[in-house]
Amino acid sequence: MTSQVRIVLIGDRHVGKTSLITSLMKEKFEEEVVPVLSELTIPASAMPEPVTTHIVDTSLRIQDEEAIMAQIREADVIGLVYSLASPETMERLQSYWMPLVRRSVQNDTKPVIVIGNKSDLSKTGPASQSERLRKYIEPLMTTYIEVETSIECSAKALTGISEAFRYAQKAILYPIAAIYHPQRYE
Ligand code: GTP
Repeated sequence: MTSQVRIVLIGDRHVGKTSLITSLMKEKFEEEVVPVLSELTIPASAMPEPVTTHIVDTSLRIQDEEAIMAQIREADVIGLVYSLASPETMERLQSYWMPLVRRSVQNDTKPVIVIGNKSDLSKTGPASQSERLRKYIEPLMTTYIEVETSIECSAKALTGISEAFRYAQKAILYPIAAIYHPQRYE
C-alpha cells in the first residue's frame, strides 16, 4: 500500500487554503494568516488514515501560475478549495481551476477533492446548499470525472476539516472507493 501521500491545495485568493492547514494542525483558527505555508509533513500517527502525508499550500497571491502548475504535477491528489461565501470562487472552479489542472497534467489524471470552505458564512452566503450543488458542483463533476468528491467545511468553526483531508488521502489509498455521496452535505 502507498505509504506517502502528497496533497496540494489550490484555489482562489482568500478562500482559506492556509487556514485549513493551520486549523488541521493546531485545531484552532488563527486570525492572522501568512500567504503560503512551507510544505508540511505529518506523520502517519497524526492523520486520519495511517499514512505519512505531505500537505502543500499554494497562493496566487505570491506565486505565478507556472509555480502552481508545477505543484499540481507533483501532487498525488489535489484539494481544490473555494469559498462558500463567494460565488465568483465557485464559478472559477469550472472556468479556471479545472482547466488549469488539466493543462498541468496533460495526459495524466489526478484525483481532485473539491473543498468548500467558510461554511460558517454559508447561511448568509449567496446560494443555498442545494443551489450550490445544482449550479456549480454537479456540472463540475459531470465535466471533470477526476473530481472524486466534494465536501463543505470551515477552518474557522473547525468543522469538516479532517474529513476533507481524509477524503484526499482515501482518493489515493482506495482509488475506487471515493464516490460522490449527496448525504455528505447534510
Ligand atoms: P491566499 O494566500 O490569498 O491564496 O489565501 P488563502 O486561500 O490561503 O486564504 P487564507 O487562509 O489566507 O484566508 C483568507 C481569509 O479568510 C483570512 O482572513 C482568514 O482568516 C479567512 N478565513 C479562512 N477560513 C475561514 C473560514 O472558514 N471562515 C471564515 N469566516 N473566514 C475564514
